[in-house]
Amino acid sequence: MQNFVFQNPTKLIFGKGTIEQLQQEIPQYGKNILLVYGGGSIKRNGLYDQVMNQLQAFDANVFELSGVEPNPRVTTARKGIEICKSENIDFILAVGGGSTIDCTKAIAAGAKSEHDIWDIVTKKAQAEDALPFGTVLTLAATGSEMNAGSVITNWETKEKHGWGSPHTFPRFSVLDPVNTFSVPRDQTIYGMVDMMSHALEHYFHPEKNTLLQDRMIEGLLRTVIETAPKLLEDLENYEHRATILYSGTMALNGMLSMGYAGDWATHNLEHAVSAVHDIPHGGGLAILFPHWMEHTLDTDVARFKQLAVRVFDIDAEGKSDKEVALEGIHALRDFWNSIGAPSRLADYDINEDSVEEMADKTVIARPQFGNFKSLTRDDAVSIYQASL
Ligand code: NZQ
Ligand code: ZN
Repeated sequence: MQNFVFQNPTKLIFGKGTIEQLQQEIPQYGKNILLVYGGGSIKRNGLYDQVMNQLQAFDANVFELSGVEPNPRVTTARKGIEICKSENIDFILAVGGGSTIDCTKAIAAGAKSEHDIWDIVTKKAQAEDALPFGTVLTLAATGSEMNAGSVITNWETKEKHGWGSPHTFPRFSVLDPVNTFSVPRDQTIYGMVDMMSHALEHYFHPEKNTLLQDRMIEGLLRTVIETAPKLLEDLENYEHRATILYSGTMALNGMLSMGYAGDWATHNLEHAVSAVHDIPHGGGLAILFPHWMEHTLDTDVARFKQLAVRVFDIDAEGKSDKEVALEGIHALRDFWNSIGAPSRLADYDINEDSVEEMADKTVIARPQFGNFKSLTRDDAVSIYQASL
């Protein structure tokens, strides 16, 4: 284990009816509020009215930025920054999934900077401050509600980059499982794939002696695997929605990754796919992760075997380590297919014509990527080819 400092300042407010906390949490920051949301799901399920009631309870001056896209665009973040600067916004409230929250982080940092937000996203400039913001999460997936990360897309240049700063942790996040009841089946599946992928990105690293971290990750994976089919049978089941919501937050709030850095090559590969083709992040991960595993298996067969045995209950009796490891990878792919996740890039009409363009995007920030196994552009081409 490496030395580490852990600090996560986000106040997590979890459970039924917790929307009522907004009128206590927000007024300390001021009355000029920018409400940020997506394409309208919060209007259809009644959450918008509940949030407005909370804001009206302390006579807030509410400004709105709606229409944040899945895979949020830098152009939308710029619109929000403009509102913050011209209207003297005190606090931003994000109501939505990872895209709305990520866009809000970019707005919050951009509002306190002279630099264009794309320069901050691409790390040409640094975020030196940010407006305070909170979130009401509506979709279990990214963990953005309790981390400082944000992923922003530039559709003109077809680039999608992750960035973050100590200033971009939400001050609080309200997580009511009821607010996720209306998440459609496909987005529910993508969200569960995403949180499992975060756990898996952590799991593959070159560090030694991560015994507790391994067990915590395995526990999270087993929990999602056990709950996913039950939730998909009953999308408005409070307990299953609560389990998945909590799992999504824990998978990427820093709790599982103290003392080491995970791999993250598959996320880099997926961001390049969605930058070019605008596909759902979790859908792309379900296709790519098993192929990344097959590509990197020989780096540490014992680690893949451990995953197979402890998470997928593969019987190792009479088999080589590599056979067991491969059975584990197949079990992961079979599980994702069994819950309805896609398995080939062709499912999104992506064919070999765009392999080179996607591979170019994987190395745009740096020529090598991946901490468990360092990959190059050629590796990206091989993994995309195998995923077609
Ligand atoms: O826009 P609306 O109308 O709200 O609809 C959304 C959207 O169409 C819908 N939705 C959300 N909550 C709903 C709902 N529909 C009905 N009822 C509800 N309660 O779901 C669709 C997808 O929403 P989105 O926010 O895009 O999904 P997700 O939370 O999966 O976020 C994906 C984005 O997060 C990034 C991804 O790359 C992608 O851009 N990531 C962010 C990370 C982070 N900040 O830490 C890490 C991740 O690895 C990921 O890269
Ligand atoms: Zn992810």
